[in-house]
Amino acid sequence: MPTALITGASGGIGKAFAEEYAARNNNLVLVARSEEKLNQLASELQAKHNVKVDVIVKDLTQPGSTLDVFNYTKNQGITIDTLINNAGFGDYGDFAERDGERQVQIVQLNVLALVDLTHKYLPLMRQQHSGDIINIASIAAFQPIPYMSVYAASKAFVLSFSESLWAENRGLGIRVLCVCPGPIDTNFFTAAKFPPTIAAKNTQITKVETVVKDTFQALERGESMAVSGGLTSHLIPKLSRLVPRKTLVSVLEKQFKT
Ligand SMILES: NC(=O)c1ccc[n+]([C@@H]2O[C@H](COP(=O)([O-])OP(=O)(O)OC[C@H]3O[C@@H](n4cnc5c(N)ncnc54)[C@H](OP(=O)(O)O)[C@@H]3O)[C@@H](O)[C@H]2O)c1
Repeated sequence: MPTALITGASGGIGKAFAEEYAARNNNLVLVARSEEKLNQLASELQAKHNVKVDVIVKDLTQPGSTLDVFNYTKNQGITIDTLINNAGFGDYGDFAERDGERQVQIVQLNVLALVDLTHKYLPLMRQQHSGDIINIASIAAFQPIPYMSVYAASKAFVLSFSESLWAENRGLGIRVLCVCPGPIDTNFFTAAKFPPTIAAKNTQITKVETVVKDTFQALERGESMAVSGGLTSHLIPKLSRLVPRKTLVSVLEKQFKT
């Protein structure tokens, strides 16, 4: 039975991926900080789908955490067929006034942990001549976002990095896909401390199940990137190419200011 490793599996999009991969007869390795939520999900999925679920309780912003994850799977003899780099968070506000450590942690989780886990598992997938790497970016990847500056930049990195890896690995049996969701009904906006007035502007909220469905469709089509969300989310990548960057960032500054 193949195994999917999912970071940020304790809730939101990661949990939805865990449910779908278990339903498709995959064993799972679930990573996040919330031990209780992970163990509860593991019990549910094991009972419902008769799959093996390993839980790794880990804060992926911490040095050595990705190596711990890798060593765990290695020591358990678990081969990872699908790596879903999903764990991520943002932080709303004026960069200069926000907590500096939190800004660095966004980069550590959204960028460094993702690069490091990919670099650890990709060579093993190459040896097997098969594997899927799914990196969760965002529509924030397509333009700078004032008051979400580090988050948007981190997702631009994920998009660029993933598309390069897609090209480097096509033809080697490895599918690399960058998923760019629009606003989704998860804990993301609460965790990012979005003011209700700004969060309320997200009128086209998509369900986590849609992200999972769009991901499988894009994988099957061999896409390098997939936007998941409403019409506005699909227009954003196109508009961001047409509108001059200075105009775009000025408009977004007004939109995201409280
Ligand atoms: N929701 C949206 O509107 C949206 C839109 C575009 C992209 N995304 C992206 O989708 C991904 C999943 O987010 P979500 O919407 O599902 O939000 P969420 O409900 O807040 O889930 C985030 C997940 O990441 C985990 N996580 C957070 N910090 C972590 C850390 N330091 N170490 C390990 N795991 C950590 C959380 O688990 P613990 O708290 O248990 O650690 C949780 O499982 C993120 O990369 C996000 O940027 C979300």
